[in-house]
Amino acid sequence: MPTWVQVVYLLCAIGFILALKGLSGPRTARRGNLVGAAAAVVGCVLPFIYVDHLDHVPLMIGAIAVGTAGGVFGARKVQMTQMPQMVALFNGVGGGAAALVALLELNHMLEVQDALDALGADVDAYGWFVYAATAFTIFVGSVSFAGSLITFAKLQELMTSRPVVFAGLPVAFGLMLLGGVGLSVLTVTDAAIGIGIALCLVGLVFGVLLVLPVGGADVPIVISLLNAFTGLTVAAGGYVLSNTLLLVGGTLVGASGTFLTLLMARAMGRSVGNIMFGALKGGSTLGGGEASDRPVKSAGPEDVAILLGYADRVIIVPGYGLAVAQAQHTLRELVDVLGERGTKVDYAIHPVAGRMPGHMNVLLAEAQVPYEQLVEMDEINGEFKNTDVVLVVGANDVVNPAAKTTPGAPIYGMPILNADEAKQIVFMKRSMRPGFAGIENELLFDPKTTLLFGDAKESLGKLLNSIKSL
Ligand code: TAP
Repeated sequence: MPTWVQVVYLLCAIGFILALKGLSGPRTARRGNLVGAAAAVVGCVLPFIYVDHLDHVPLMIGAIAVGTAGGVFGARKVQMTQMPQMVALFNGVGGGAAALVALLELNHMLEVQDALDALGADVDAYGWFVYAATAFTIFVGSVSFAGSLITFAKLQELMTSRPVVFAGLPVAFGLMLLGGVGLSVLTVTDAAIGIGIALCLVGLVFGVLLVLPVGGADVPIVISLLNAFTGLTVAAGGYVLSNTLLLVGGTLVGASGTFLTLLMARAMGRSVGNIMFGALKGGSTLGGGEASDRPVKSAGPEDVAILLGYADRVIIVPGYGLAVAQAQHTLRELVDVLGERGTKVDYAIHPVAGRMPGHMNVLLAEAQVPYEQLVEMDEINGEFKNTDVVLVVGANDVVNPAAKTTPGAPIYGMPILNADEAKQIVFMKRSMRPGFAGIENELLFDPKTTLLFGDAKESLGKLLNSIKSL
């Protein structure tokens, strides 16, 4: 590989690192995304320029064209609420591609070794570590592919989002894991393409069994975990193919995916083990939940407008329902009007509000809410006690005091926003159905709480008109 190519690959790797840095803050995320995408494009184009005799060029260009068209179409069409399943699908395809490349590379390695053996040369063309890395790529890439397809099906409601557990699942799971390890060892000691294909099939079944017992609310965390798996797979593939850029890119994805998984699990007050295997122990029942029929205090938009219109300090708690209703623009208008009336208003951002990391930040950024109005949980939690009205828009679990008071509740231990400390609380939701954790929220029945029933966008529109006419 010419030196200039190595330098360009190095620049691409730096581009990936800068992209991650940019993606860690809302102000720089868009630029970070573009830098990462540009580095990936350069990395893909480079072999077409420097490799002298490239085989199957039309086939490769055709595949790139199909992938690009699918990616652009998917990214343009996807609704914000469907983003997690799109990430799952793209991630799974990455893992599957890495597994297929490793299978082809195994075939190539065997051909090279056969040719050497036929010449009577008593040499091992590839060390044991290359075979081990190939086996790892095939197995973990297949797990990531199959697991991601199941997460996609769960989030897209193509199958039940509740944990799927059946008798013998732990045994089947253990057998597949043992099979995967055994076939990987065989790939190192007696490599054959049949063993590689069997390893791939076992990986696919293992991936399905890994994700089936995970409840709907936990699926985004599993997507992040599988994303980390794909990163590690790609890194191992980079080692097998002696491609430094794949190695660096894969390691970055593996490391950041692992961090994201751990951070999300911590923000939900759960361990990754409990999220993955809780249902096997009969512990995780997340997803679903019945509507409560206990009496609550509800009001119309005009009454809530008076509460808000004469408050000095208001905190908005946005949640998943805001994304469902696509009410972010109306909400921003409401906050602007309150600001003009002299009310101090901030948005309290819980780290796992919504259904994906940074969901509320992305949603509110789309409505051009100034970043300084978005206040993280730790920073704003001390301010609720001095707040006149908390307006909870389509959120539920992130303000549910059961996280502090009810040991055994699925969200017990999750840090929450202290909305219960405010003088008045207004919930905007459509019904008495629970949030994603599937449990009742005592705060809905608090004497300080008022419910404004209806779709968040419609209710906010009415509220806005009422406040304007105060
Ligand atoms: P949830 O607890 O799921 O509550 C959403 C609320 O929105 C519900 O009360 C629902 O009530 C209401 N709603 C839905 N559609 C609405 C609409 N069109 N108009 C008005 N209200 C609507 O949401 P949250 O408070 O944001 O909590 C997030 C949950 O997801 C947590 O349990 C968290 O652990 C979990 N989770 C998050 C992530 C990430 S990374 N964000 C990952 C995994 C799991 P109605 O149906 O009555 O309207």
